[in-house]
Amino acid sequence: LVLILDYGSQYTHLITRRIRSLSVFSLTISGTSPLKTITDLNPRVVILSGGPHSVHTDDSPSFPPGFTEWAEANGVFVLGICYGLQLIVQRLGGVVRVGEKQEYGKMEIVVESNSGVFGSNRVGDRQVVWMSHGDEVAKLPQGFRVVAQSQQGVVAAIESPERRFYGLQYHPEVTHSPGGMETLRYFLFDVCGVSAGWKMENVMEEEIKVINSTVAPEDHVICALSGGVDSTVAATLVHKAIGDRLHCIFVDNGLLRYKEQERVMETFEKDLHLPVTCVDASEQFLSKLKGVVDPEVKRKIIGKEFICIFDDFAHELEKKLGRKPSYLVQGTLYPDVIESCPPPGSGRTHSHTIKSHHNVGGLPKDMKLKLIEPLKLLFKDEVRQLGKILNVPLGFLKRHPFPGPGLAVRVLGDVTAGNALEVLRQVDEIFIQSIKDAGLYDEIWQAFAVFLPVRSVGVQGDQRTHSHVVSLRAVTSQDGMTAEWYYFTHEFYDDVSRKICNSVRGVNRVVYDITSKPPSTIEWE
Ligand code: XMP
Repeated sequence: LVLILDYGSQYTHLITRRIRSLSVFSLTISGTSPLKTITDLNPRVVILSGGPHSVHTDDSPSFPPGFTEWAEANGVFVLGICYGLQLIVQRLGGVVRVGEKQEYGKMEIVVESNSGVFGSNRVGDRQVVWMSHGDEVAKLPQGFRVVAQSQQGVVAAIESPERRFYGLQYHPEVTHSPGGMETLRYFLFDVCGVSAGWKMENVMEEEIKVINSTVAPEDHVICALSGGVDSTVAATLVHKAIGDRLHCIFVDNGLLRYKEQERVMETFEKDLHLPVTCVDASEQFLSKLKGVVDPEVKRKIIGKEFICIFDDFAHELEKKLGRKPSYLVQGTLYPDVIESCPPPGSGRTHSHTIKSHHNVGGLPKDMKLKLIEPLKLLFKDEVRQLGKILNVPLGFLKRHPFPGPGLAVRVLGDVTAGNALEVLRQVDEIFIQSIKDAGLYDEIWQAFAVFLPVRSVGVQGDQRTHSHVVSLRAVTSQDGMTAEWYYFTHEFYDDVSRKICNSVRGVNRVVYDITSKPPSTIEWE
């Protein structure tokens, strides 16, 4: 295991990902975790991340007392990156000072010593790296030497091979440091002797073992499938482990896309052989949403209704099985886990308020279900790899994200007004199919249509019309937190708008959303 202690750098997750891409398992925990948490994980290598702090401020975060002694006594390798390097220097008796020359952005460094973290690089070799620091090393701790300097003469890399401590002042994990990946690779495999064996197949086997040892033979497990990638992969994995003691529910809330229910149920049943109860609750949801225009109220109503249905499902199961289900499967991913426990002073905020209404449904407190979260150590692309091994169809794994409240946040205002939902479904299907036909689906993070509660004047077949306006939206994004609007060709816009106006009754105008996030959000409500 390569353990990363996070001091709040915006690049910390990137370090984890880079190392995992080398087939080495790595995990990030808070940089201020107690020593026991660190030693229990028994890492071979510990990486101290960068961060926005200066080691000089009183409350600057640091590793726990006894950490360096433990590392030295147990042959653990320690690599400090940026702030992490400065922590090593300061805590091991060197001096860090406020830099005379601050270094931000691309910078050339020169290798000063043949041994160390730079593999085949020799004294005098140069490489371009990405720097981002104000403080600098003034005096090295005992036993350390400088391995590289920046073109401005600032210490760029240090090491003490005898003590197994290393430090890079720059960020090897970002693509702006072109040799950074090679440095990490060399450090892990050649310096630390780590072996590459972390594969998705092993992750799957390991998770199945964990599930089987957690869930007793008489226990039953439930799972709410949203039709999205995460819950589907999580359920498929649990099903592989415990078979039909898993009970899934898929709720049609009347806010799904064109033929969504048929399409996802077919995948669940035919491709994945998952035992799924499909509940058609559209009437129930839509009657509660009638006349409601406030987006937050809509979201709350949907969340509450979902919980009621889920509760009923659990009670029905209890009657049928003669015992309560004991566990609930959730498709929580690693970024959600890390985001919920930001390191102190990192400036990162808890995203709970957003997440709680982003979840398909909270849980009734009195259900007292224990959680199974088999994906909680994985990133989205790793979940897709796992899904592939579990034979989840590729087309399904690549589906764009779809929000829990469904089309309710894409019909602005009252979702039950007129035939808004039906119009939106047809427009959305034409747009998505056109994107697929153009071979663009996989390069877009999310694309969809929005129904606007306004009418505009048009002319169709020599007749004046006063019909609906729809907006199309397509964005690219890494994680949905920020997004850029997608630029189609002129011909594409022209073609799709013609198709929509010619085949969807009641629409005479199509507009395209050209706002990024921020300032907009991806969904309109
Ligand atoms: P926003 O609109 O906040 O969306 O920029 C970011 C990403 O989250 C999705 N989203 C949701 N997903 N329940 C969900 O499961 C929700 O209530 C919800 N609201 C937004 C959105 O589609 C985008 O991918």
